[in-house]
Amino acid sequence: MSDQPSGPAQTGDVLELSVGEAASGGWCVGHLAAQPEPGGDAGRLVVFVRHALPGEQVRAVLTQVTSRFARADAVEILRAAPERVSPPCPHAGPGGCGGCDWQHASLAAQREFKALIIAQQFRRIAGLDLPVTVEPLAGDAGGLGWRTRVRFAVDRAGAAGLYRHRSHEVVRIVDCLIAHPLVTEAGITRQRWPGARSVDVAVAPGTGERAVVVQGGPRQGTDQSSLTQRAAGREWRVHARGFWQVHPGAADALADAVLDALRPEPGDRALDLYCGAGLFAGVLAAAVGPAGAVIAVEQDAAAVRDARHNLRGTPWARVHRGDAAEVIGRIGPSGATIAVLDPPRAGLRPALIDALSAAGPAGLRRIAYVSCDPATLARDVAAFARLGWRLERFRAFDAFPMTHHVECLAVLAPAEH
Ligand SMILES: C[S@@+](CC[C@H](N)C(=O)[O-])C[C@H]1O[C@@H](n2cnc3c(N)ncnc32)[C@H](O)[C@@H]1O
Repeated sequence: MSDQPSGPAQTGDVLELSVGEAASGGWCVGHLAAQPEPGGDAGRLVVFVRHALPGEQVRAVLTQVTSRFARADAVEILRAAPERVSPPCPHAGPGGCGGCDWQHASLAAQREFKALIIAQQFRRIAGLDLPVTVEPLAGDAGGLGWRTRVRFAVDRAGAAGLYRHRSHEVVRIVDCLIAHPLVTEAGITRQRWPGARSVDVAVAPGTGERAVVVQGGPRQGTDQSSLTQRAAGREWRVHARGFWQVHPGAADALADAVLDALRPEPGDRALDLYCGAGLFAGVLAAAVGPAGAVIAVEQDAAAVRDARHNLRGTPWARVHRGDAAEVIGRIGPSGATIAVLDPPRAGLRPALIDALSAAGPAGLRRIAYVSCDPATLARDVAAFARLGWRLERFRAFDAFPMTHHVECLAVLAPAEH
C-alpha cells in the first residue's frame, strides 16, 4: 500500500489496516494490510485500533508506538462492517471524548463484542469455555440517557467537559448523550467553574433527586449530602459520592439476579461482602427473615452509615466496617450458607477466597460473585475452582452501553453439589 511507512512506525504515521477481533478496552486488533519493506519495524507490531470494527479495512493514525505494540485511531473506513452505525454523539470519534468506545457499533454488536471478550478472558485466565450472552437492561434509551453519575472535568478556563481518551485534556462538550436526562438538566457544561477541578453529578431517577459535588474553586462543596434511590421495590439512602449502580436498571436487575442465584430461604445466614449502601444485604434480609441473619461488610464509613440506615428495619442484618478480607479473617464465615461478593475492579484477596472455602461443603452452598471486571473475575473463579468450587452459572448485563464495560455475575457452588 502506498501509505504504509517503510521505516520504523512512529506516532502520527497513517497506516492501512485490516481489523480483526474486538479486544478488551474498546479496541480491535489490527494487522497491517501490507507488510512494509524487509527491515521495516511496522510489520511486526500488533496495533490496537479504536473506532474500528472487526472485519473492516481502515486507514488509521498511530497514537502510540511501543516496542511491543501500537495504538491507533481509525480515521477513514475503507470497507465498513455491516454492524457499523453513525455514532449518535459528535464527540465520540477519533481525538474526541474517551467516555464511549462503541458508539459506531449497533447495540447488538456491542453486546456481542462484550460477550466474546468475556468468553476469551475466561478461556485464557480460568481455562473455562463459557457460553456468554450479554443481557440488555431496562431503563436506557437505545443505549443512551442511562448514566446517572457523571464526573465533568474542568479546564483552566473554568469550562466543564469530559476527558479525551487516555488523556487529561478536557474536551468541551455540549451534552453527554449517555448521561441521564436529570444529569443533563443540571446544565453543568453551560456554566463556568473557575478554579474547580471537577464537578460530579449524581441523580436518582426513581425520586428525581440530584446532587452536585464541586472539587476545588470558590463553588467547592456538595449541594445535597445524599440521594434516595429506588430499587427492588423500596427506597435506599445513598450518600452523594457513594457507590450505587450507575445504570437506572442495574440495581433492580442485579438484586433479582442475586436472589435467583442464591435462592435464599427463611433461616439462611447470608454474607454480603463489599455491601455499599446495603442493596443485596437488604433484599437478602427480607428473604431470610428474622430466623436468619445477614452479615454485611463495607470499608467506606459513609457507605456503612447508609447501609445501617437502610437495614434498620431488619435488625437480623448487621454491617461490619472494615476490609472484607480482614473482617472475614477475624470473624470467619460465621456459619453462612450463602454469600454475595461485589468487590471493586481489583477483585478478591486470596486470603478471602481461602477463608470463604475453609468450611468446605459444610459451609457455603452458593456464592454469587458480582463484578465489573471480567479479567479479575476469571482469575478469582479459577482460584475458587482450585479450592473445590465449580462455576454453576454465568450472566452478564449491558450496564454500560456504548462503553466497553460490562457487569458480570458468576454463581459458584461446591463441586460435589
Ligand atoms: C462495586 S461496589 C458494590 C456495592 C453494593 N454491592 C451495590 O451493589 O450497591 C464495591 C463496594 O466495596 C467497597 N470496598 C472497597 N474496598 C473494600 C474492601 N477492601 N473491603 C470492604 N469494602 C470495600 C466500596 O466502598 C464499595 O462500596
